[in-house]
Amino acid sequence: MIHRKSAREIELMREAGKLVAEIHRELARIIKPGVSSLEIDSFVEDYMKKHGAKPAQKGYQGYPYATCASINDEICHGFPREEPLKDGDVITVDFVADLNGGLADSAWTYIVGDVSDEVKQLCDVTKNALYIGIEAAQHGNRTGDIGAAIEKYVTPYGYGIVRDFAGHGIGPTIHEEPSIPHFGTAGKGQRLKEGMVITIEPMINTGFWPSQMDSNGWTARTMDGSLSVQYEHTVLITKDAPEILTEQNTSGD
Ligand code: MF3
Ligand code: CO
Repeated sequence: MIHRKSAREIELMREAGKLVAEIHRELARIIKPGVSSLEIDSFVEDYMKKHGAKPAQKGYQGYPYATCASINDEICHGFPREEPLKDGDVITVDFVADLNGGLADSAWTYIVGDVSDEVKQLCDVTKNALYIGIEAAQHGNRTGDIGAAIEKYVTPYGYGIVRDFAGHGIGPTIHEEPSIPHFGTAGKGQRLKEGMVITIEPMINTGFWPSQMDSNGWTARTMDGSLSVQYEHTVLITKDAPEILTEQNTSGD
């Protein structure tokens, strides 16, 4: 069943989205060499609690932390840890806030210190892929239109688009129908309708797309050891342009 949200539910998700965006803006400021992903995790959890929200990922299907913190070749669901970040790392911080029952989910990759131009390009292309996917998330389109748009844009770079994890409907729980793959065929898949809220969250690797699972049963990393980055927004489908509920740049530029 695909859940279309009421005006009240949308309002709650909008508020949660603003909080998630605010936390990401803070993370951009604090993430640097020497900071640990466990410190980032505590920061996010404390920030949510101070603002009346709960970290919805903590305890979700037994997941033990407020954030997923995926470093370098980790694709997603990395466990926060004590080891400090090093110059040249990339870290994707992914979390869901539950504010008065409204959920919002966003992941962002942060560059730690200095990285090569190749790594910067991977980040730029993946971020662009997110916004290209969002543009395709129009009322009346299908989920395959999102994946096809992302695939068409990313493929010429020779990167691998992760296939084992997809975006998803969100609210009232973290993972709802429909599934939103980041590759696919235009015109195929479930139809998008006004009032649906979904995540779009491309994970792109410098190498091949296959992933392997760590022994912790959660963390996926690239099979070939290549780097993987990710950008994710929570998006409301409307009759007009899709509304990004977790947009960080709200100044309008
Ligand atoms: N935020 C993740 C996503 O984008 C969901 C993580 S589920 C958890 O789909 F259990 F790992 F927290
Ligand atoms: Co997420």
